Amino acid sequence: MKVGAPMPGERIYNFSAGPSVLPLSVLKRAAGEMTNYRGCGMSVMEMSHRSRVYLSIFEETKADLKRLLSVPDTHEILFMHGGATFQFSAVPLNLIGRTGYADYAVTGSFSAIAAEEARKYGVVRIAADTEASGHTTIPAQSELRVSGDASYFYYCANNTIYGTEWKYVPDTGDVPVIADMSSNILSVPLDISRFGVIFAGVQKNMAPAGMAVVIADRSLLDSQFPYTPKIMSYRAAVDADSMLNTPPCYTIYMLGLMLKWLEEQGGVEGMARIKSAKAKILYDFLDGSGLFRGCAAEAARSDMNVTFRTDGEELDAKFAKDAEAAGFANLKGHRKVGGMRASIYNAMPSEGVARLVDFMAKFERENG
Ligand SMILES: Cc1ncc(COP(=O)(O)O)c(C=O)c1O
Repeated sequence: MKVGAPMPGERIYNFSAGPSVLPLSVLKRAAGEMTNYRGCGMSVMEMSHRSRVYLSIFEETKADLKRLLSVPDTHEILFMHGGATFQFSAVPLNLIGRTGYADYAVTGSFSAIAAEEARKYGVVRIAADTEASGHTTIPAQSELRVSGDASYFYYCANNTIYGTEWKYVPDTGDVPVIADMSSNILSVPLDISRFGVIFAGVQKNMAPAGMAVVIADRSLLDSQFPYTPKIMSYRAAVDADSMLNTPPCYTIYMLGLMLKWLEEQGGVEGMARIKSAKAKILYDFLDGSGLFRGCAAEAARSDMNVTFRTDGEELDAKFAKDAEAAGFANLKGHRKVGGMRASIYNAMPSEGVARLVDFMAKFERENG
């Protein structure tokens, strides 16, 4: 065993972009309740989703999310299968029929895929495209081309692969704003009333994989096509309270535990302070480093996914390998961009980031 490497059975620092680290206290709580949930004689995994016990878990989770995100009564909270990619189809299938047009800001892979998917159902116009900068930037408000006849304006609030994050909510006049917040939901306070629809795959800041949370303005939900599959219809999901069929019961239960944990951290406001301080540790180090450099433009840096590299692919690979051996897992960048990426979602403790920076400093001394 190498010095500094984790002992077998020890938990390591997991910088995975998703599915991602969950708080140890949440995992322990789930483990404690695994076989017999609060004396009811069965696991949450084994319960009927219509049972009284499960419905109370479901309702409490929804109520906690509503409170923590200050979701106004104008908006519905939905739990839907299929992750975030399902929403790339659900958004146009529910909304593009309003006018037939939609304006998409393409700031990375996931918004590009979403725009491509929407083209099947209507006319998609590109409101902004950051490809020329290698998706290292975020467009300014003045650069967004949004037309008044758009059914909606769509953007991805945090670009998981490129490590960029929108620092503002676009002002689009009367055009509803749709946001993919898969990788930064619950890390910043939001004025939900400014959004038509927010959706997020849960496997980063919320729960184990298997679901997306959708927060939708009720007034927008009646423009689906006659051929929109019922399982993708926001209206049908609202009417059935997210139980058109068996919901991802255990994932919802885990989300409930995560929300209790988030509350203990001071809610979304508390988390916003914690995550900014955490990201600063890493960015400050990168700015002072002679070996590593951040990939994203400074003004666009994500507090959730920190992308960085050295000047050589071989050295990048050595770093990722050495880091893994020392107990810092999943630091290799996405295959599309190479380099490194540290995903430091809500559940990554500050100590994990501080220890990573110590390791990077040591690597720099030895390889710089
Ligand atoms: C911002 C963003 N949107 C969408 C997705 C796709 O998510 P899913 O795998 O849940 O479909 C991801 C996955 O990493 C993502 O980071």
